[in-house]
Amino acid sequence: MRVEDPRIVAALADLGVELRHAESLADLTSLGIGGTTDLLRITKHESIPDLLNLLDSHGVPHRFLGGGSNLLVDDGELPWVVLQLGQPDPDLVIEGNIAHVDAAADLGRTVTYCAKHDLGGMEGLIGVPGTVGGALRMNAGAYGMQIGSYVREVKLYRAAARRLEILRGEQISFEYRHTSFAPDDMMLAVKLELPSKPYKEILQGIRICNEKRRSSQPLGQKSAGCIFKNPPGASAGRMIDELGLKGQSVGDARVSDRHANFFVNAGKASAKDMLALITNVRERVHASFHVELEHEVVIWDA
Ligand code: EPU
Repeated sequence: MRVEDPRIVAALADLGVELRHAESLADLTSLGIGGTTDLLRITKHESIPDLLNLLDSHGVPHRFLGGGSNLLVDDGELPWVVLQLGQPDPDLVIEGNIAHVDAAADLGRTVTYCAKHDLGGMEGLIGVPGTVGGALRMNAGAYGMQIGSYVREVKLYRAAARRLEILRGEQISFEYRHTSFAPDDMMLAVKLELPSKPYKEILQGIRICNEKRRSSQPLGQKSAGCIFKNPPGASAGRMIDELGLKGQSVGDARVSDRHANFFVNAGKASAKDMLALITNVRERVHASFHVELEHEVVIWDA
């Protein structure tokens, strides 16, 4: 979708929003899949309510993009513009046991920066690509921990109320790969309260998690992490593996040989290829295990 109306273009400039024409979402997502649209980069949180009023009043549909690491975007010319937060400097400030983190901050860098300040707890998240905002929205977790456990406060744009709000940790429910945020809420910043731990100890935990991840996940390849959530008491990866589906492909979309719940873009996979592979695998799992796998990856259908 193109933003060409000069009134909108001028209003965006007034709001400090940077308009980037014809961005390829394939370049902004870890899967390397996705069509083209205009991208609006937000420089000031305070401008968001006015920005959304502007887009709504001109009938411009929009989606919020985080780090693009858990996202499968449709092919071709996309029927909505994409909003993304610019990265403030600094994006992370430590005060005692509290880390004040901007939603656009890189998750891995946040884990290591906190570690250097003797703040631990998030070792399991090392190696999880994406932004802190994305991790927060879906309650990212690994190796027995989840980010939600450390959230004391979240600043967000509440789409339903059309304003910026601050929620306390207790007001948010964090479950397995799920939170009580509405799909159109936009994470802006978070206060994490982290346990004190000596840097050396945290580093050891980080090394162990890195090693586990390297040995079991296809890290060098284009993927969106796990495609399906694990059903209660079971592992989607193990079920897909047991069916012998590693290496199964549709075009360049392929079930990883290393971890069967990772689907990789082995070349020039399209969203159509990836969606067909997801459907095939779901059907095979359903037929054999009578389990309906739920997507973990977020799908933006045009
Ligand atoms: N397994 C297989 N074959 C495979 C993959 C896994 O037999 O191809 C077996 C493993 O041997 C293990 C069991 O399945 O016995 C579980 O596998 P793993 O430890 O790799 O964990 P997972 O349940 O597949 C979850 C998260 C990952 C997270 C890891 C580590 C989900 C959907 N996945 O994977 O998160 O990194 O645990 O904590 O919850 C993600 O969310 O994108 C993600 C990658």
